[in-house]
Amino acid sequence: MGEFIIMNIDQPIPISGKDKKILIIGLGQIGFSNAEYMSSLGLKVDGYDINDKAVKRALDAKIIQNKATSFSDYDYYIICISTHNPEKMYMPFLDGLFQIAHRIKNEGKTNALVGIDSTITRGTSNKILKILEHRLHVSHVPHRFYINEQIEHGVKQTRVLGGCESCCVKEAVHFYNELLNIPLHIVTPIDIAELTKVVENSYRFMEIAFAEELKIVCDNSNVDFKELRQAINTKWNIEILDAKEGIGGHCLPKDSQMFLDLTKNILPHSLLETAKIIDSRYRRHIDLLQNTTVSEPYENNLVPDQSLTAETISSLKNEFNVTETDVKAYLYSIIKKIIDEDPELVKNTVYPKQDSR
Ligand SMILES: NC(=O)c1ccc[n+]([C@@H]2O[C@H](COP(=O)([O-])OP(=O)(O)OC[C@H]3O[C@@H](n4cnc5c(N)ncnc54)[C@H](O)[C@@H]3O)[C@@H](O)[C@H]2O)c1
Repeated sequence: MGEFIIMNIDQPIPISGKDKKILIIGLGQIGFSNAEYMSSLGLKVDGYDINDKAVKRALDAKIIQNKATSFSDYDYYIICISTHNPEKMYMPFLDGLFQIAHRIKNEGKTNALVGIDSTITRGTSNKILKILEHRLHVSHVPHRFYINEQIEHGVKQTRVLGGCESCCVKEAVHFYNELLNIPLHIVTPIDIAELTKVVENSYRFMEIAFAEELKIVCDNSNVDFKELRQAINTKWNIEILDAKEGIGGHCLPKDSQMFLDLTKNILPHSLLETAKIIDSRYRRHIDLLQNTTVSEPYENNLVPDQSLTAETISSLKNEFNVTETDVKAYLYSIIKKIIDEDPELVKNTVYPKQDSR
């Protein structure tokens, strides 16, 4: 099968669709938006989540009809659970997904569709198909949800769809395009769908990391990052992003780790590896810069660059191979840490002269 695109037209839901039962598994940001969208189309939607609060939120919002107590008797199982390690957000973690697959294997309706909307690593969909022994169909339609633009970039936006077998593709196209009215870009094999999400977020990670690198360089060499960025972005094919608070959340760090894991046996080095180092360096950079501006009780008295000689700063710079701004920022943060941990000690020992002034 070649690639093709199905654009949706605003068509009414087929009568047959109204009787179908959907179970959304995982009612976080993605599951909630899915349930909200599907119930707004008049479809029958139930929900399931290991977190009772997530279920209550969906019930209270009336976007699911019931909390599922059994996985039997659904036509569509839409998996929206988190796929990162709860302890380490940047680490992929698929155990929950496989547990769900085993439950669907035992309780799920034959010929129903399992649609994986969560972000997954390459090969996961086929593992799920194997667990289910292809008694149910399996598709992967990774979500591209963006919370700040839910109308344009919510559930209904162009989505990439892959299915494990051609019958899975057919069932998935019926569900996502004909019932949900979502424009689709259909790919084969399903690995392309799995990789699409992971690679698009890896690419985004690198774009942000480059902006962060540029910001560190500007801050440490007396260049106005904002002015420089504005100037560069006047070129038609360049868009340097803003450098904000570092790459947080679970999506970009975890998805880029999925790609990085894939590169390990193929390439000795990866741009992404460096991008991750830059991001962590950038977060330390802004942390240190922010620490220099907090106004704590003793903060106004902390002026290490005035109390240290130029020679001391220079030797610290050389010894640790860092910039002068870094040296000062480190010193501020060390002094602040001491103050936070034992303010009384600082009062009595570091500032005795000021007390007697
Ligand atoms: N939020 C986004 O903007 C976004 C965008 C694209 C893709 N995704 C992907 O979608 C998936 C879900 O993301 P999210 O932002 O909704 O996460 P989330 O943390 O907001 O919600 C995940 C939900 O899944 C539930 N859950 C976890 N394990 C479960 C299990 N074994 N059984 C039942 N429920 C379980 C959690 O309790 C939680 O309510 C992730 O793979 C994420 O990478 C998210």
